[in-house]
Amino acid sequence: MKVHIYTYGCQMNENDTEIAKQLLLNGGFEVVDSEDEADIVILNTCAVRKKSEDKVYSHIGKLRKKGKKIGIMGCVADKEKENLFRRGVSFVIGTRAIAKIPEAVSNAKDGTKQIYLDDTLDEIDYHKVETRNSKHHAWITIIYGCDRFCTYCIVPYTRGREKSRPMESVLLEVRSLVEKGYKEFTFLGQNVDAYGKDLNDGTSLAKLLIEAAKIDGVKRLWFLTSYPTDFSLEIPQAMVENPKIARSIHLPVQHGSDRILRAMNRRYTRGEYIELINNIRNIVPDASISSDIIVGFPGETDEDFEATVELVKAIKFERLNLAIYSPREGTVAWKYFKDDVPYKTKVRRMSYLLNLQKMINRELNEAYRDKRVEVIVEAQAKNGLFYGRDIRNKIISFEGSHELIGKTVIVKVNKITAGPLYGTVEEVLG
Ligand code: SAH
Ligand code: SF4
Ligand code: F3S
Repeated sequence: MKVHIYTYGCQMNENDTEIAKQLLLNGGFEVVDSEDEADIVILNTCAVRKKSEDKVYSHIGKLRKKGKKIGIMGCVADKEKENLFRRGVSFVIGTRAIAKIPEAVSNAKDGTKQIYLDDTLDEIDYHKVETRNSKHHAWITIIYGCDRFCTYCIVPYTRGREKSRPMESVLLEVRSLVEKGYKEFTFLGQNVDAYGKDLNDGTSLAKLLIEAAKIDGVKRLWFLTSYPTDFSLEIPQAMVENPKIARSIHLPVQHGSDRILRAMNRRYTRGEYIELINNIRNIVPDASISSDIIVGFPGETDEDFEATVELVKAIKFERLNLAIYSPREGTVAWKYFKDDVPYKTKVRRMSYLLNLQKMINRELNEAYRDKRVEVIVEAQAKNGLFYGRDIRNKIISFEGSHELIGKTVIVKVNKITAGPLYGTVEEVLG
């Protein structure tokens, strides 16, 4: 039986796909790279916005035309559950039930429709997962779920309550990967700063970062995504003491207006968010702070939007993911707030912010002009150039060769754009 997995959504889904592939191999299935070759195609799905979900349904339609058997995992699986059977899929696997994938694929052969939603996460041997997308960088999910219940967000309904992996399990995974040559690690969680809180043994993200940095062979550690009121200043403090911890914090603010923040159930004010950024920058002046912002949330007036614009100007994020509000069934905002900002206004506000951010990026990138930076080489891009990131998550492109992938190099920056920086490799550190 040949199985193909197609991944939509966030890094957590990418990591789940890597794990699922290993489980399928262990179960004696063949995992193939192309959809056409496969007997069964599993879609690892995202439900964060309507658009993400619609992509899944059109993909299901295409697969049915091709006569493929279909399995659904990821957030749409948890959101839609049995409803997906109406669309002709053979099985549905919730985000916590991934250990059941071999069983699901095997049962799909005889045509019975099955749904798997049990929590099987403790059954997974994370440190034995070898089917990873990269040979030098690894995603490691350290906390599942989210308890924040932002009023617009589907994730707490799809990924369930927060559940941390024991620190020993995470460190064992890091050590096993280091033995295989991995150098960079990204610790993942929808609210990564809540890591350890449910374990009640003093475990925290800062402690994990400090422990993981002690492992020989670990070159750089990243973490995603931070939640402002759960974020601990022990993390920037750890960055100062430890050059292996990347100086990059993805700290979504979502909005600049207190009224909207309250309606979103984000548990901080604009002022508290700014204070947090100041505190971080006082400890790590060159910390790279990126964010997510939603435009067109119900009731967003011109003044509310202006507050977001002013915040973006004041903070100068290194990177900004912008999204137009999309009502999600079952969430508080979907139930109680009218999606009343006209689509045209949403698009106008979004493009205003996009342009503003472009100018800010251009300005911030100037700081890199003629600088020599330490970069870990990641891959070759479609345009033939190689690229990698510095400790601030800045992407730098340069002429290179495949032998450089995974190596640390010194790049002299010689061209600045609003997007990537360009440079030449001056030294290979190994
Ligand atoms: N846990 C992270 C990110 C979760 S989803 C956090 O706390 O921010 C990634 C991003 O998608 C969110 O940051 C938000 O900006 C966006 N998003 C989530 N739900 C959305 C919705 N219903 N409409 C539009 N954007 C949404
Ligand atoms: Fe969604 Fe909010 Fe949780 Fe992020 S913190 S996953 S936006 S509920
Ligand atoms: Fe999408 Fe689920 Fe990730 S909704 S963004 S795949 S947590």
